[in-house]
Amino acid sequence: MEKEELSLEKVKYTRRRFFILGATAVAGVALAGIVGGGLIAFFFPPKRFRKKIGGWQKVKPASECPEGMAVTSSYFGIPVFILREGGKVKAFSAVCPHLGCIVKWDPEQKVFPCPCHDSFFTSQGLVQKGPARPYNLLPFEAKEEEGMVLVSLPAPEKLKPYPSWFRFAMQYGG
Ligand code: FES
Repeated sequence: MEKEELSLEKVKYTRRRFFILGATAVAGVALAGIVGGGLIAFFFPPKRFRKKIGGWQKVKPASECPEGMAVTSSYFGIPVFILREGGKVKAFSAVCPHLGCIVKWDPEQKVFPCPCHDSFFTSQGLVQKGPARPYNLLPFEAKEEEGMVLVSLPAPEKLKPYPSWFRFAMQYGG
């Protein structure tokens, strides 16, 4: 009789332990989901919570853009190059359309090499070699007004040929 009571106690204890462990595991998974989901939403907010960018933005004083040189600036967090040639300014996204590294400006060769996988682009933004082919640097609209250089994201058709991650980065900013 005593032996039976003991084993009954043991069964109850084991069952209680099983439920406590189960509840703890469920609570842990739920907490991890909430925290993990929050972190993901913070760093990678869904499209509907992000605002599309666009329109003209002042990015650099014109006096800081000398002839024949490309200078860096930023458009809604997107690194851009402003290049003055023949007195006119033009602008390109500095984001390599291969995998997103930031291209450099080589003032000797007048080209934009990508430091990651050896692609390079002419001063017109045209890809010459490397895995970035067939994508050129994305040209931005550029103009000068009241001593400032202004740039704007190009029309959506110009973005169409690019990979989706690149289009997303350009449309929602850096
Ligand atoms: Fe530029 Fe790969 S990221 S060549």
